Amino acid sequence: MHESIQLTIDFEKFDSIEELPQDEQLLITSAREAMNNAHSPYSHFTVGAALGMKNGDIVIGSNQENAAYGSTICAERSALVAAGSLGRKEDIRKLAVIGTSKDFQTSAPVTPCGACRQVIKEYEDLSGEPLVILITGETGPIHRFVGIESLLPFAFGPKDLNK
Ligand code: THU
Repeated sequence: MHESIQLTIDFEKFDSIEELPQDEQLLITSAREAMNNAHSPYSHFTVGAALGMKNGDIVIGSNQENAAYGSTICAERSALVAAGSLGRKEDIRKLAVIGTSKDFQTSAPVTPCGACRQVIKEYEDLSGEPLVILITGETGPIHRFVGIESLLPFAFGPKDLNK
């Protein structure tokens, strides 16, 4: 038997930050501030990420580029490994990402790369809850996803390593 199956992705679109709950507004503001710590002399593309932790703490990250380009670390992974390194790998509940370029202004949401989606999947599984993901550009809408599955369907994860 052969079946054709369609997947749908649910997400919310907000036209302004004020429409979001307070904690999510703060998370986006923190991600924006984190852009100041980015090291992006090669791409001129600056990204900030902020993680909302179970107890309300915020852990930030930014993209850290390298003269050996492939050694660059994205903002999302910087924040996630920072939280893990602080011993809080199970406490991550929300992620906000914002990015812009020194050469032009972003007006569409900056969306996590494939490698970051895979790493997000790992930490989401550790938290045991769908991760709230907020992405935005310097201007333009905010997209809000609940669960990495929306951005990475059919993900390989920790469960796949066990029978
Ligand atoms: N980058 C991120 O940090 N996060 C994203 O979601 C997209 C891309 C960084 C990697 C690199 O330093 C620069 O943006 C251009 O790809």
